[in-house]
Amino acid sequence: MVKLVKATLNDIPQMQKMVVSEVKDGVILERSEDEVATNIRSYILAKIENELVGYVALHIHSPRLAEIRSLIVSSEHRGKSIGKKMVESALVEAKKLGVGEEVLVLTYLPEFFIKMNFIEIAKETIPEHKIWTDCIKCIHFPICNEISLVYKIAG
Ligand SMILES: CC(C)(COP(=O)(O)OP(=O)(O)OC[C@H]1O[C@@H](n2cnc3c(N)ncnc32)[C@H](O)[C@@H]1OP(=O)(O)O)[C@@H](O)C(=O)NCCC(=O)NCCS
Repeated sequence: MVKLVKATLNDIPQMQKMVVSEVKDGVILERSEDEVATNIRSYILAKIENELVGYVALHIHSPRLAEIRSLIVSSEHRGKSIGKKMVESALVEAKKLGVGEEVLVLTYLPEFFIKMNFIEIAKETIPEHKIWTDCIKCIHFPICNEISLVYKIAG
């Protein structure tokens, strides 16, 4: 049985270990231990009998905009709806917190998010502070093929 729980600082070593190959491939942006710690309240973890099997972060940019970041399910547990459950839970949290307009994601897997009612947007409309705080750290910057999508909170 998969349980979704909030992360604690003790989870960080396992979280970092889980994304090593995706970070190397440029699918997930590298985050330092300190950055994860600073944002620890953003993370939702999926656990099966206390074993970490995936996680996602809901990062708040502004009262209107949040972002899904660092979505990962360990390779041996993919295809069991764990990713979907975590994203749904992040969207519920965004609504509960009162995020006013939308939840952004930048991804190479648009199909996964389109199934969850995200819609593609033009890259030029991504908020600038996202580009300048995160994208510049990415190994693919500035030639990036990621697709930007948003989930509209209202309506
Ligand atoms: C993307 C990822 C998190 C999906 O997690 P998952 O638990 O395997 O996905 P789920 O089982 O919840 O799939 C939900 C739906 O998306 C579909 N889906 C899952 N992976 C997909 C993929 N790679 N391409 C297209 N559709 C996909 C599933 O078929 C399923 O569809 P259904 O609801 O019609 O059955 C996982 O494959 C992963 O960790 N990948 C590596 C890291 C990565 O790419 N992260 C995304 C960064 S934005």
